Amino acid sequence: MATERATEISQAQIAVHWKEEEYVRPTTKFVGQANLVDPAVTERFSEDHFPECFREYADLLNWSQYWHTTLDTSNPPFWKWFVGGKLNACYNCVDRHLAKYGNKAALIFVPEPEDEPVYTITYQELFTRVNEVAAVLRDFCGLNTGDRVTIHMPMIPELPITMLACARLGIVHSVVFGGFSGEAAGLRAADSGSRVMIYADGYYRNGKIVDHKPSADIAVALAEKEGQNVEKVLVWRRHYGQCLSTKPMVPGRDYFMDEVLKDFKRAKVDPISMDAEAPLFLMYTSGTTGKPKGCQHRTGGYLAYVTGTSKYYQDIHPEDVYWCMADIGWITGHSYIVYGPLALAATSVLYEGAPNYPDAGRPWRIAEQLDVNIFHTSPTAIRSLRKTGPEEPKKYNYHFKHMTTVGEPIEPETWRWYYDVVGKREAVIVDTWWQTETGGFLCSTKPALDPMKPGSTGPPVLGIFPIIYDEEGKEVATGSGKAGNICIRNPWPGIMQTVWKDDDRFVKQYYAKYCKNRQSKDWRDWPYFAADGAVGPPDGYYRILGRVDDVINVAGHRLGTKEIESACLTVPEVAEAAVIPVVDEIRGRMPVVYVSLKPGVSDGTRVKEEIVSTIETMIGKIARPKAVNIVPDLPKTRSGKIMRRVLAAISNTMDTGDVTTLANPDVVELIRRQVQGEGPVVMKEGPEDVKRFGESE
Ligand code: PRX
Repeated sequence: MATERATEISQAQIAVHWKEEEYVRPTTKFVGQANLVDPAVTERFSEDHFPECFREYADLLNWSQYWHTTLDTSNPPFWKWFVGGKLNACYNCVDRHLAKYGNKAALIFVPEPEDEPVYTITYQELFTRVNEVAAVLRDFCGLNTGDRVTIHMPMIPELPITMLACARLGIVHSVVFGGFSGEAAGLRAADSGSRVMIYADGYYRNGKIVDHKPSADIAVALAEKEGQNVEKVLVWRRHYGQCLSTKPMVPGRDYFMDEVLKDFKRAKVDPISMDAEAPLFLMYTSGTTGKPKGCQHRTGGYLAYVTGTSKYYQDIHPEDVYWCMADIGWITGHSYIVYGPLALAATSVLYEGAPNYPDAGRPWRIAEQLDVNIFHTSPTAIRSLRKTGPEEPKKYNYHFKHMTTVGEPIEPETWRWYYDVVGKREAVIVDTWWQTETGGFLCSTKPALDPMKPGSTGPPVLGIFPIIYDEEGKEVATGSGKAGNICIRNPWPGIMQTVWKDDDRFVKQYYAKYCKNRQSKDWRDWPYFAADGAVGPPDGYYRILGRVDDVINVAGHRLGTKEIESACLTVPEVAEAAVIPVVDEIRGRMPVVYVSLKPGVSDGTRVKEEIVSTIETMIGKIARPKAVNIVPDLPKTRSGKIMRRVLAAISNTMDTGDVTTLANPDVVELIRRQVQGEGPVVMKEGPEDVKRFGESE
């Protein structure tokens, strides 16, 4: 059953969401200045030249010791890149730029309150501050190379400064998105074995002060419960000398960074020459189980890959002002706000707040004020800015040469507004498809060389060779119009090394499904399973249809439904819980919760409130469900499996399919009436990820 649905997707079904769009070509002005204009690059990165082609990226970096082997495949799928090489990521993002760009802006910080002035950190200043923080980590916290540090911070410049200070010493940073709860941070701190956590006292979001320090206390307590002692919490203050938090500092554990730093003024810490394969950071992401996994990224391959793709696909030059509106707490921020742009000596803008605050003109005012010429954001942000201020961009005198969309599929209509109104028909657009696991882009047009096609991510990026498989492992031919599971046939330098402390999960999750021979040392036998559905049309421009596992992509952010279900089940009155995605006009998808209650519970309203607040507490506001439905029973198979697909169909007013074989078929109609009202069944073709939801179980 699952097999048929996964692969037999007809042209007609796909056409509901996708029709062939006309190509759009970049302007000659853009092409005239682009980094990548030599069509021979495609040949240089052809399969015949794999893996040596990636030297072109690695050579953008300074190595303290050059590598001897580009790719070692002796222990699949634990690939090793640039073996024998040594380098320091912080040195490459900071020190090496000082001679030429010392006085140039490295970071421009835009506070959310508009009356607070923007401030600029030059490469020289960044160097000074990163050194001082590195000295604190080493000499005050006693941290060593290879130790892990959990950083739970908002979008303030001290976040990249702290990350770079870690990288300088080979300390593995694990940044947790600032909007996640203290519980979520504590869980991640425990998993990574962090004995130091780094916080900010508070920040501004949507015009309000968010008191962030309480999260630290929760995180430390939770980590403790999980067996991890957090010895020190360093707290950056958003305004030096005054505290935005009402929470007291815990003596002997909590320290204000500005006070500790007084003893480390002008300290210098030599960057440690790290093995190319040494881990640079962990980034936790959601998967099919309730427990987030720590994607472990390597130093050399990762940095080479994000630097190369930033240069060729983001078209970053040192003189550009580049603004990626993502949060550094997600992979996009790591790769394309911090490491890639800074390795290229760009000026990277950091905006603290909400895109729509105080109004939908804010991003365009920032762009005008700072002369931003490269802009990078998600379809959710674009949809929301369009809805609240469709004419706003016209009021401001800025000019983008290049724009990126990332994180979710973008509808052609939204793409067009982005192109016509935001980009003023001057800016090229790249629709970049990739994942936390992949370090950098997997598919995108080459901005000056390939035409754009609204709604399609485009061809694979240089050195990436995708393939679409059906559930049986048969190749789905490109151009057949059929959908299947998109995989990458080859290793590439940006791919994660493993799941932190869980090699088995790494193999199982990403390689077991399509591995042709477990004994083989040939990379060709080990395709990477991305867990996304895709169609490969005849022109080779891939269309990503969304996740094929139990992950919901909310506003471009990955949430595991199992994590949300686990949170619901901690509410004592809840007997069973199922979480499914519902299509949302702005945020792409949102979670909807279905629960059945234990016998004798009568106050449904209170339970609903408690479920919502528990989800917010255990995960974060981003996981807030669009609806909570208390139902008499959840639809189940005779073997007791909850049919999430049926619930997803109901919430999205789609056909529930044949439910007669369920153990409790009658409940389906009951739930349908409860959710959709008394009217007749509305049948709608839904998007692939919703239609197939829950089938990976
Ligand atoms: O489903 C794909 C979707 O986002 C997932 C990866 O999420 P995450 O690891 O949080 O990384 C987001 C930033 C790279 C993918 O499995 N996705 C990402 N980019 C696109 C996309 N879907 C369609 N088009 C994209 N450009």
